Amino acid sequence: MKPLSTVLVVSFAGLVNAAPRSESSTVRHQVSQLRNEGYDFIVAGGGTSGLTVADRLSEAFPEKMVLVVEYGDVEYAPGTFDPPLTEWGGRRISARSWTIISQPVLDFKNKTALVLAGQVVGGSSAVNGMFFDRPARQDHDAWANAVDDAGDHGGEKWDWNGIYPFFKKSVSFTPPSAAAAQQHGFTWDASVYGSTTPIYSSFPPFLWADHHIVRNAWKDLGAPALRECAGGEKSGLCWIPISQHPVTARRSHSGVGHYLAVNTTRTNYDLLVKHQVTRVIWPKGPTSGPPVVEVRSLADGTIFNVTAKEEVIISAGVFNTPAILQRSGLGKASILSAAGINTVVDLPGVGSNLQDHSGAAVAWNYTKPGNWTPVPSQMADAAFLADAVAGFNETPARGPYTLGMSNSAIFIAHLDITTREKTDDLVQKIERSIKDGTAISTLPADYRDDPDLMAGYEYQLKIITKLLGDSKTPSLESAFASGNSVRAINLHPVSRGTVRLNTTHPLELPIVDYRTGSNPVDFDVYVDHVRYLRRMITTPAMQRYGAVEAAPGPAVQGYAELVEYVKDVITLSFMHPCCTASMLPKNKGGVVGTDLKVYGTKGLRIVDMSILPFLPSSHLSALAYAVGEKAADAIIREWRR
Ligand SMILES: Cc1cc2nc3c(=O)[nH]c(=O)nc-3n(C[C@H](O)[C@H](O)[C@H](O)COP(=O)(O)OP(=O)(O)OC[C@H]3O[C@@H](n4cnc5c(N)ncnc54)[C@H](O)[C@@H]3O)c2cc1C
Ligand SMILES: *[C@@H]1O[C@H](CO)[C@@H](O)[C@H](O)[C@H]1NC(C)=O
Ligand SMILES: *[C@@H]1O[C@H](CO)[C@@H](O)[C@H](O)[C@H]1NC(C)=O
Ligand SMILES: *[C@@H]1O[C@H](CO)[C@@H](O)[C@H](O)[C@H]1NC(C)=O
Ligand SMILES: *[C@@H]1O[C@H](CO)[C@@H](O)[C@H](O)[C@H]1NC(C)=O
Ligand SMILES: *[C@@H]1O[C@H](CO)[C@@H](O)[C@H](O)[C@H]1NC(C)=O
Repeated sequence: MKPLSTVLVVSFAGLVNAAPRSESSTVRHQVSQLRNEGYDFIVAGGGTSGLTVADRLSEAFPEKMVLVVEYGDVEYAPGTFDPPLTEWGGRRISARSWTIISQPVLDFKNKTALVLAGQVVGGSSAVNGMFFDRPARQDHDAWANAVDDAGDHGGEKWDWNGIYPFFKKSVSFTPPSAAAAQQHGFTWDASVYGSTTPIYSSFPPFLWADHHIVRNAWKDLGAPALRECAGGEKSGLCWIPISQHPVTARRSHSGVGHYLAVNTTRTNYDLLVKHQVTRVIWPKGPTSGPPVVEVRSLADGTIFNVTAKEEVIISAGVFNTPAILQRSGLGKASILSAAGINTVVDLPGVGSNLQDHSGAAVAWNYTKPGNWTPVPSQMADAAFLADAVAGFNETPARGPYTLGMSNSAIFIAHLDITTREKTDDLVQKIERSIKDGTAISTLPADYRDDPDLMAGYEYQLKIITKLLGDSKTPSLESAFASGNSVRAINLHPVSRGTVRLNTTHPLELPIVDYRTGSNPVDFDVYVDHVRYLRRMITTPAMQRYGAVEAAPGPAVQGYAELVEYVKDVITLSFMHPCCTASMLPKNKGGVVGTDLKVYGTKGLRIVDMSILPFLPSSHLSALAYAVGEKAADAIIREWRR
């Protein structure tokens, strides 16, 4: 590793022009604008979870100073699908994001995954697809089981009952208008949501006309239409709210709800933007108290130390959190020494256990199309488009731009996708692979000299087989809004990847190796999912319009052919990476305990999607807020004692 000290080094202590304590919170662009007296809590990363924690800590402790250090800047963050149409989708998002191209994925013909991560105040909540669902109860109960089995690791409960109050607290839900509910058939249960936090969850007033065809097709296939899917039970056909303001339909994200909403009144909450947390340093050893936070100015490369009196909280996201930890000497000793970094705590779990949602699509053509309107192709019509833009700027907003990505999905258990017998076969296949050692052989080479990582993987597999065999835990998600295809999401993948420092450029993005499909069981699941999705095309709801399968196409039937198809059309990342600093027992490759404290250290916690042990049956933003809320609650209780 290039020594970090080759850049100009200036100590923070004794800087002139520092702001006096009484000054209200404001965005700071230079370390010289930080407060003379220092900070009690420092949060590294002003994203979805990080700003939630900072807001709650500064609210709970008016006398303590909270600093957030954020790589990006404060920006108005438009919704992914907001007008103008010329910026639809990717381009505008990537301007505020890290663009990560993964290592080639061997089992997918060396394709690379494209994955983004927010690089702006608000983090990924400011660039994401705004689909705002929650995990299933069973995901959380399994997570709690994963940490509780081996004894106490901090005493916090992460089962559904333990986290549910924080899901409720983290958002304000507004029911749709009576007219929209009537027109679209929306259902909900407002009692599973909160009403005080300005992170908004709401329904769009608009749906595309062909939406109901796919919805009815899933009903034909037997998916139960659920009234509400955010209350723990989500096996069925779900209406999913969107993270947007109920009236303006503007994106609701943590930069707005957990910073701008409070920065005019909160005098103890500072945000330093355009600065990178490079690493944390314990001058007297990792158990001596909160570490010093080393920060680099993006403007001129200057390096500073900022000191926290109570705690440092790392919330830099699934790729950058393990990079900060590895630069700090927290990681697998052999990997650190290869990068020229002294090991401070040997924690092989750092940057291990990488997972993401992936899956393949099926497509069809209608041979008897109805006269549906509105449909997305009408956006090519100048008058339709002009009305869509005008509608979005009305109060309340109306029209296509209020829809975001989608607000509907099915979540189906594996035994409803196949049969009990086939599901049991799959479960037994995983169990055999644990017994005969073939499961371990699918792991990255640098796992296989580490007993804890190997034990942790088998431990996870045992828990995931329970989820796979459970009638209430979804194995497949498929979201839909309009059009001639639907995509499968493999909700509980069993392949594992890594995030490792780029040894020649340690301050840049780390190297992301997904290793998707390295455990062949995932291919069985992808194939089962494609077979299930294609059955949807044959339902009466679809046949009414003469739907014919266009992909994979009727000729593609056998397992080997379907595997080949999946390899060709896979989406390798639905942008839900997780688990690179997992909450697991230390002897199972864990990095944090249930209190989110990093094993072997004092004064350091991790609060972001890195801490998940495995993926849940949901997208991650609602969970990132709930984890932030629950973490803040634990920290506040501890410092009140
Ligand atoms: C394009 C995209 C689409 C998505 N779609 C959806 C969706 O529709 N629904 C859904 O629920 N989820 C979605 N997700 C996932 C979800 O948004 C994320 O999982 C979640 O927001 C992650 O929260 P986090 O707190 O872990 O990290 P983030 O919110 O990413 O926050 C990390 C923050 O740390 C900052 N940072 C990083 N490194 C440093 C450093 N060294 N120093 C200082 N600051 C640093 C970053 O700039 C960022 O602000 C999507 C994600 C993306 C990227
Ligand atoms: C930051 O603190 C560490 C540990 O005390 C020290 O080695 C380093 O020189 C300091 N850096 C600066 C910029 O003061
Ligand atoms: C709050 O943040 C916004 C955005 O950076 C800034 O314009 C405003 O001045 C801040 N308010 C206060 C009181 O500092
Ligand atoms: C993928 O890359 C590996 C390593 O470079 C190579 O051995 C393999 O042949 C490649 N596979 C394909 C399908 O190109
Ligand atoms: C490390 O980063 C540099 C600069 O971005 C890049 O050129 C190089 O390919 C990266 N290394 C690896 C192994 O990806
Ligand atoms: C479906 O439509 C596409 C585009 O018009 C066409 O290329 C394809 O051949 C059609 N497939 C079938 C099975 O009708």
